[in-house]
Amino acid sequence: MTMLERLNAHERQLIQRLRGHPLFQRLPALGWEELLAVLIQRRFLSLSIVNIYEFVIDGLHSEAIRATVRSILHEEYPRNTRGVPLASHRELLFRDLLHLGASREQILLSEESVTTALVRRQSMEQLQTCLHLTQSDLSLVCFLRFWAEVLVAVEYESLWPRLSERLNQGAAGGGARSEFFYYHMMHDRRQADIGEVELLGGLTHAQELAGHLVGLIDNEDAVHSALEQIDRAWKLKDHFYNQFVQRADYP
Ligand SMILES: [Fe+2]
Repeated sequence: MTMLERLNAHERQLIQRLRGHPLFQRLPALGWEELLAVLIQRRFLSLSIVNIYEFVIDGLHSEAIRATVRSILHEEYPRNTRGVPLASHRELLFRDLLHLGASREQILLSEESVTTALVRRQSMEQLQTCLHLTQSDLSLVCFLRFWAEVLVAVEYESLWPRLSERLNQGAAGGGARSEFFYYHMMHDRRQADIGEVELLGGLTHAQELAGHLVGLIDNEDAVHSALEQIDRAWKLKDHFYNQFVQRADYP
């Protein structure tokens, strides 16, 4: 196996493992309030994404990678053709949650759990750790891409069977159109292996970042660093979802 093949195989394996998380397995049986509680905790990670992106922008050495990361961050704050600010992605998340039946108070007054706060803090600490590594740009991009794009799409795709009970993906049909979850499920996803050119429907965020990884993964140390970061990103997401399941739910 080439170095990229090893990394790709490992990524696919971690994606499958997150899809198989006990919470996602139990999803069809989850009460609606329980589901909302998961989504409201998940919102705290969404709120932290701007900090994560800004940290990476400042931490990177490569101007070319910084430009890509910056452009992805700026998509979070769309504007119309006249430059007038539209609702940010966090506002769209809030709207999706309202359409799913959460109340304003429930969303705004729910406290962040100890686990969610820990996952958020450890995610920032992981980025700090990346700065000290010899492959710091590679490490930052690997962690960011897996934590904030690839796995986000896997999370939303796993949740979608329940979300789609009350949200739909287009303007047609009953129910409200999902403005946040569906969009991110499509635009963040991995879509293709790293190093594989798959332009169908344009590049996703995961693919835009993957484009920068290809040239950086050219030695054993680099593969090792990349694997370490995606493992860490996976563990943090796994830890986040573990808070919603009982030990007995584990196989
Ligand atoms: Fe994204």
